[in-house]
Amino acid sequence: MAEKREVLLSVKDLNVRYTADRGQVQAVTDVNFEIHRGEFFGLAGESGCGKSTVAFSIMQLLKGAAHISGGSIEFAGKNVLAFTKEELRTFRWEKSSMVLQSAMNNLNPVVTIGSQLMDAILAHEALPKKEAVQRAKELLKLVNIDENRIKAYPHELSGGMRQRVVIAMALALKPDLVIFDEPTTALDVVVQYNIIRRIQELKAKMGFSVLFITHDLPLMLEMCDRIAIMYAGRMAEIAPVGDLLEGASHPYTSGLLQAFPSLVGPRKPLKGIMGSVPDLITPPPGCLFYDRCAYRQKDCLSAPPPLEAVGENHTCACYHRLKKEGE
Ligand SMILES: Nc1ncnc2c1ncn2[C@@H]1O[C@H](COP(=O)(O)OP(=O)(O)O)[C@@H](O)[C@H]1O
Ligand SMILES: [Mg+2]
Repeated sequence: MAEKREVLLSVKDLNVRYTADRGQVQAVTDVNFEIHRGEFFGLAGESGCGKSTVAFSIMQLLKGAAHISGGSIEFAGKNVLAFTKEELRTFRWEKSSMVLQSAMNNLNPVVTIGSQLMDAILAHEALPKKEAVQRAKELLKLVNIDENRIKAYPHELSGGMRQRVVIAMALALKPDLVIFDEPTTALDVVVQYNIIRRIQELKAKMGFSVLFITHDLPLMLEMCDRIAIMYAGRMAEIAPVGDLLEGASHPYTSGLLQAFPSLVGPRKPLKGIMGSVPDLITPPPGCLFYDRCAYRQKDCLSAPPPLEAVGENHTCACYHRLKKEGE
């Protein structure tokens, strides 16, 4: 896909810190990426690499102890970090919405799912009740739930169905960008697969862009246009799926690709990456993947490797990247 497409979201040099009892946690460091209109963009990396912090920064939903210490976030050319309260209210849900891993457990247990869908619509649009009911029914149909379930309470639905209600809610105001942060991690594999298929169908039908976050990189290869891999708060690699299918450039990406069995396709033997993500309070100098890397060399400790172009739309932050045959 060589054609230039409209940039919907642009994250530039983003830095985010948490103030913890133990000290300052540098959760996100110098992160740069763009999502195009209509693109299915993945953000992968192990737990603790800063993925959710990036997502919450975009939505301006970071909690008190967090602080954006540098960088900018632009949405359709507007600076999200400078939005007024009213602009933020419009931005969230109408322009951009988010589905979290445990969202299905956050539905109000004493209110029917229909009422909760209608509340989401009516908070932003003045509609007669009849029309709101109709819209709620249509939203249920979108996520393959019979419209007659509109009067059901959350406990009357399975976990997968509840998560689909949350997805319907996120789509209620037809946002341009939907962020899914590990939306299916708590569900079993078959339910997970069905939900992801549904998200793909809805994206094709409604045309929104997706930021899809998971630690399961092979799962992402099935559905994304481009994937960014984060390690210890930094971008390790950003690549079109086609490039990753031919082989990763960053040793961390390569490790992640081998660490999970694929949902579809041939099963590979599990080969995890040894060790764990370093403590981000006092990160060591140089490449943060050094301790776990099979390709490390002395010069890796000089400074964190910068993200550099290694192909068309493909960047990698490694001094000794993996090369493809014939390269
Ligand atoms: N509220 C918080 N206070 C202190 N540190 C936090 C807080 N939330 C996240 N962190 C730290 O920030 C880093 C990134 O976390 P997070 O964005 O949740 O990663 P991911 O979503 O990739 O698992 C981790 O080191 C984590 O421990
Ligand atoms: Mg997370």
